[in-house]
Amino acid sequence: MWIKTILLLVLTVIVFLSGYWLHRAGSPYGTFVLAIHKLVALVAIVIIGSLLVAAQRRIGLSGGDAYVVAAAVVLLIAAMASGGFISAMETAPKWVLVFHRIIPYFSAIAAGACVYISWVKA
Ligand code: HEM
Repeated sequence: MWIKTILLLVLTVIVFLSGYWLHRAGSPYGTFVLAIHKLVALVAIVIIGSLLVAAQRRIGLSGGDAYVVAAAVVLLIAAMASGGFISAMETAPKWVLVFHRIIPYFSAIAAGACVYISWVKA
């Protein structure tokens, strides 16, 4: 649990730093940094999922927890979808770029709340 949580912190830092890097370098985005950015984000999401599944198996999540998890799922999908959209387009619409600049902070907060829940239910 400790290992997964520390790993998650490290991965989150990598996702944010690589995101700032992509933003500074601009389009066309570097293939390597973009690959790191999306793969590390994906691995982090899988780890959050595994922490929640473990918590659900140990004690079970309450109705309130389900709202937090649902919010995190929606926000993380929004971050992944907007990021995927930007990288697929040659020039992404401004609003999608702005969206992908804002939504990661909310997804990180919601993901942090999920990790907190999985610790409380440990
Ligand atoms: C949970 C998933 C993700 C998080 C938390 C995240 C986070 C971030 C952050 C913090 C930035 C910097 C924004 C800024 O300039 O302030 C960024 C930029 C970027 N991300 Fe992501 N990202 C995620 C998923 C993805 C995915 C899946 C892709 C591509 C398939 C992607 C592609 C990009 C690109 C192309 C930029 C640069 C956009 C620009 O020029 O402003 N991201 N991301």
